[in-house]
Amino acid sequence: MDFKFTEEQEMIRDTARDFAKEHLAPLAGARDEEQQFPIEVIRQLGDLGFMGMMVNEKWGGSGLDAISYVLAIQELSKGDASAGVICSVNNSLVCFNIEKYGTDHQKETYLKPLATGQALGAYSLSESVSGSDAAGLQCFAEKKGDHYLVNGTKMWVTNGLHSDYVVCFLRTDKSHKTRGISAFIVDKKFPGFKVGKKENKLGIRASDTTELVFENCMVPKENLLGEEGMGFKIAMETLDGGRIGISAQAIGIAEGALEESVKYTKAREQFGQPLAKFQANEFKIADMAMRIDASKLLLYRACAMKDAGEKFGKEAAMAKLFASETAMWATTQAVQLHGGYGYTKEYPVERMMRDAKITEIYEGTSEIQRIVIARNVLNW
Ligand code: CAA
Repeated sequence: MDFKFTEEQEMIRDTARDFAKEHLAPLAGARDEEQQFPIEVIRQLGDLGFMGMMVNEKWGGSGLDAISYVLAIQELSKGDASAGVICSVNNSLVCFNIEKYGTDHQKETYLKPLATGQALGAYSLSESVSGSDAAGLQCFAEKKGDHYLVNGTKMWVTNGLHSDYVVCFLRTDKSHKTRGISAFIVDKKFPGFKVGKKENKLGIRASDTTELVFENCMVPKENLLGEEGMGFKIAMETLDGGRIGISAQAIGIAEGALEESVKYTKAREQFGQPLAKFQANEFKIADMAMRIDASKLLLYRACAMKDAGEKFGKEAAMAKLFASETAMWATTQAVQLHGGYGYTKEYPVERMMRDAKITEIYEGTSEIQRIVIARNVLNW
């Protein structure tokens, strides 16, 4: 067992850290306030090779390992959690499954622009009727000769507005629940496709979350990803990888809250001494640091297993669950340590607290992570 990062992993982390300090953190508050999508920043992340980090260089990616990927997402999320999720979705929920299940033609057409950052991707599984019960989705793709005719509405789609291509999970067989679902790559230019309502969210407000509406939308049959009926397995396998990305996002948020708290409690004096000198506050700082480190260890183990080609679904669920609960807890402590100032937009900790909440909800709620872990432990 080796607890050291490689030189390359450290270089990726430092590049992401510098980028976040210079290009993300300074405007994160304003973008949150105005719900402004950081499109220029995403293009720059593409130029740095951060939009297809684990994709093979042959397809325009950076060919990096999962540890490098999560180190980058952590640092980006520390600067701006919205940028963190935009990047994470493109990497682990879109590029991953096109690279794994796509044909060479699909990779040439869709993966290359996605991995280089020339295009942006979204992943669409949920609907109004199916969230945690993902296999309950109803949006229907009817096979008609050389295409599928799609009708229905998808929901909660991160990057729904600004993406170019969507990996979409649709029902192709109403007689089977999980095995009646297929995956498709949908180009948003296909006739009959439109973006629906954009959600006005509590946190990660600079990222967009929308409905996607299909009205007799024609999706060519060559846009089927993998085989018909394989969609649910692709969705689940993809989410195993997605959950390490969200775990990294949560750790970035928590670490940002810790750094802000250290700065503030050392500078702010009450009763004649810095807040950090009060033992009650020291204990908060100690617990934040410990929980963040424990989250990292869970995450890096899941990544090491992924890189070794082992099954890592349970470990990814543990990492996501622990890190997201840590982020929620640590950001709440950070607001408390800042007192009244923490409750205002003068300090970033209130945004971090709002951003942290979603990490306990998307890519599987904390309850779903516990189900995944329990089913693995109990072996059913
Ligand atoms: N990898 C590969 N296959 C898997 C798998 C995995 N991790 N998990 C399950 N499967 C397979 C099973 O082996 C089974 O295969 P067979 O049909 O061959 O037996 C099949 O899938 C069905 O599995 P289950 O019976 O376990 O399915 P279920 O209906 O009980 O659901 C669940 C399991 C874990 C609850 C699942 O529904 C789930 O993860 N729900 C949460 C959904 C979720 O995370 N949504 C997030 C939305 S995306 C998002 O938030 C993105 C964003 O924009 C940021």
